[in-house]
Amino acid sequence: MRLVVLGATGGIGKYLLEYATARGHEVTALARSPRKVVLKSEKLRVIPGDPLNVDQLAQVLEGHDAVLSAFGPSTLRRVTTRREFGKVLAAAMQRSGVRRGLVVSSALLFAEQNVVGRVLRGTLFRNLVPDMTGMEAALERDGLEWTMVRPPKLTNGPLTHGYHVADGRLPKGMTISRACVADFMVKEAERPAHVRQIVGLSQ
Ligand SMILES: NC(=O)c1ccc[n+]([C@@H]2O[C@H](COP(=O)([O-])OP(=O)(O)OC[C@H]3O[C@@H](n4cnc5c(N)ncnc54)[C@H](OP(=O)(O)O)[C@@H]3O)[C@@H](O)[C@H]2O)c1
Repeated sequence: MRLVVLGATGGIGKYLLEYATARGHEVTALARSPRKVVLKSEKLRVIPGDPLNVDQLAQVLEGHDAVLSAFGPSTLRRVTTRREFGKVLAAAMQRSGVRRGLVVSSALLFAEQNVVGRVLRGTLFRNLVPDMTGMEAALERDGLEWTMVRPPKLTNGPLTHGYHVADGRLPKGMTISRACVADFMVKEAERPAHVRQIVGLSQ
């Protein structure tokens, strides 16, 4: 497949590049800091640029089968970057004719939360939730074949097989490794089983 990876320089993104190229896919990464990409592969093309620029993103998406995003600003301040990104990505997908998109969101968006989740939503992550909700809403368009990937707390643990996947809810477990999230996304791009679904993942 021909895949575009966004957020390729981040914790999940580096695994997306590694796993997708290892499985034989042609991968294009659009990154604002391309020098952070350490993987060298003849299957990988890194394009310097801004994933928030709709013209640039639409041009990069042209001719690909799917886009995998682990984009996300690390700030906990009140910003609208994720919402803006969702709008830009949706517009770029429509313009380029790439219908399939898998996007990392957050398990904090599930309506059902345990006590810890409820506390975090109201305190530390109070600004993240509306911004990420806006990102998802922008992408949930009829013409697009989206999958929202909502992980709980991310870890740098190893790739393990047998992690849990559930549509519309967070399966048991409060964490998942970045490696497992990337593994799920690459395999879901290959064999779509959760199109127009919000997917919870946990270890
Ligand atoms: N941490 C958690 O426990 C947790 C839990 C659930 C969901 N999430 C979500 O999962 C996402 C991915 O996790 P991660 O650990 O892979 O994050 P990460 O290491 O911070 O990577 C984020 C990626 O987004 C890019 N990015 C951020 N802001 C950008 C901007 N304005 N313009 C262009 N690129 C930008 C970064 O590029 P640069 O390298 O250039 O900065 C990087 O490639 C997080 O952002 C968060 O929204 C996190």
